[in-house]
Amino acid sequence: MFIDPELLPTERIAECARSVLRERMPSQYDAQGYRPLREAIARRLSARGLDVEADEVIITTGSQQSLDIVARSLVGRRIAVESPVYGYAKLLFETLGHELVGLHLDPFRGIDLEQWDRALARRPALAYLITSFQNPTGYSYTSAELRGVLALAERHGVALLEDDWGSDMLSDGEYRPMLRMLGGKRVLYVNSFTKKLLPSLRIGFVAAPPELVPTLVAMKRLSTLGNAWLTEAVVAEFLDRGYYDTHLQTLQRALDVRYAACLDALDELMPDGVRWTRPGGGPTLWLELPRSIAYDAIEAHLARRGIHVTNASAAYVGDPHLHGFRIAYAYLPEAQMRAALTILGDAIRTLAHGAAGAQR
Ligand SMILES: Cc1ncc(COP(=O)(O)O)c(C=O)c1O
Repeated sequence: MFIDPELLPTERIAECARSVLRERMPSQYDAQGYRPLREAIARRLSARGLDVEADEVIITTGSQQSLDIVARSLVGRRIAVESPVYGYAKLLFETLGHELVGLHLDPFRGIDLEQWDRALARRPALAYLITSFQNPTGYSYTSAELRGVLALAERHGVALLEDDWGSDMLSDGEYRPMLRMLGGKRVLYVNSFTKKLLPSLRIGFVAAPPELVPTLVAMKRLSTLGNAWLTEAVVAEFLDRGYYDTHLQTLQRALDVRYAACLDALDELMPDGVRWTRPGGGPTLWLELPRSIAYDAIEAHLARRGIHVTNASAAYVGDPHLHGFRIAYAYLPEAQMRAALTILGDAIRTLAHGAAGAQR
């Protein structure tokens, strides 16, 4: 969960659902996904400068199913992923029998393209990249890094899968640049309505080059035959009515307030030696602890006070090079976030004191 359920437009979704239910429910489904929804998605992406046709869009059960059908379609058995990376993508690729190649990501220093060059020289079939507000680090690729990654992929013959859950989570209607925008149709592009609209709708999609669409649809058919018409029609209605744009604007404003409040609280409450990123948008930032503090100790200490930390240790390919966790400021209202950060600051001071005492 990333976004506070309080910020999601459940009333308007219910309104769209009621309107859709008044229609005659079709007896057949479209294995590629409800066509009006695919058209609405293609229109939205085109308006953002992406060259996408409705026939190139496949609707999936969340973006998770998009990752699944792409990974199942690969002939090669090796996938490059950022390290650390979104845990269920890593687990999915591993479960499907892919060997993972780690692309070292440090949210404080950016991308080391030389290391990525060496990693991609191992010729993975695919590189899976979360280019805006990366999960779990909150890092966004710079335009130069996007161009660098495209050049490396070209040089090593690696296909690209961009998971763009975040480029529209920037305030003032601004968008972050996307790989798909710079790299064109050869970049597979995944996005989802689950995080920003309503998680329970479970609607995501992948836009693929036309020649890959039949294989991807075949993979989707194998796992679900097709997905429910009803939810696809509700999302199409929501987009058609212009509700999504209005909702995103409201959401961005709310997230901006939480982001600013979270940074203020961190400035005030964190002891020396703690560092954090300033992602400028999106739902999370990365907080890096002093190495003297054992990760397990802080996790247990916070759990006793009702604060849950997502353990990132399983998100790395190889040994962890970071020593921290993400702060999900989109999930908690400002006052609750401040209360949690107060407890975190105290916990770090207590444990740092204990560590210093043990060394003496
Ligand atoms: C980066 C990223 N991609 C994809 C997903 C899958 O989400 P969904 O299937 O809800 O679209 C998640 C879920 O947390 C995620 O963090």
